[in-house]
Amino acid sequence: MHVLSVVCHPRPDSFTHALAGRFQEGVTSAGHTFEHADLYAEGFDPVMTARDLEQFNGAPMVPELLAEQDRVERADALCLIFPIWWFSMPAMMKGWLDRVWSAGWAYDWKHDPNGSLLKPRPCTMLVPVGASPQMEADWGCLERLDHIWRVGVLGYCGVDPINIHFLLDSAFEKGRHGEHLDTAYEAGNRILSVPNG
Ligand SMILES: Cc1cc2nc3c(=O)[nH]c(=O)nc-3n(C[C@H](O)[C@H](O)[C@H](O)COP(=O)(O)O)c2cc1C
Repeated sequence: MHVLSVVCHPRPDSFTHALAGRFQEGVTSAGHTFEHADLYAEGFDPVMTARDLEQFNGAPMVPELLAEQDRVERADALCLIFPIWWFSMPAMMKGWLDRVWSAGWAYDWKHDPNGSLLKPRPCTMLVPVGASPQMEADWGCLERLDHIWRVGVLGYCGVDPINIHFLLDSAFEKGRHGEHLDTAYEAGNRILSVPNG
């Protein structure tokens, strides 16, 4: 089986990239092949253009986006790895979804608003979060984010099963980095065998 991870962080020495590395080790230890998309290092342009939107009317997509879609299509499973920024995903990650997961490829916009077009494939999200468990208990943001990404984004495009790991206390070394790196390794090792969670 073949796994694509998409990582979004400008610093190669970030905790986010460390998680991506452990995830990769888990994937290869399970005997799968691995492909790594580093959006910042590759200089992905996240800004949706008028030209991109022409594909809603049947125009072919630009080669840059077709290449991204090829990466997704040849993967049996996906992993998105990015930090929480303002209780959302970084703009680079959002732009990758905006531009790559397009109408006519990921979902059928004109004829069936609920129609996903992609074959079901698992996706894990590894999401480091600065907030502590107490902050999250007080604020209650992550449950809503989970719902939006699970139902409104990935599920809408046929991704299944979906596993979202919010890794709290990741902003500074609060003794939880080791635990989170273990979670990343396990997620990679079991990416093709875990149910929704
Ligand atoms: C621009 C920016 C916005 C952030 N917003 C939030 C936030 O809304 N909630 C939160 O818990 N942490 C927030 N953080 C903290 C990051 O989630 C935290 O630094 C990250 O998970 C640690 O991973 P890293 O070392 O790979 O950056 C923010 C960090 C930055 C740089």
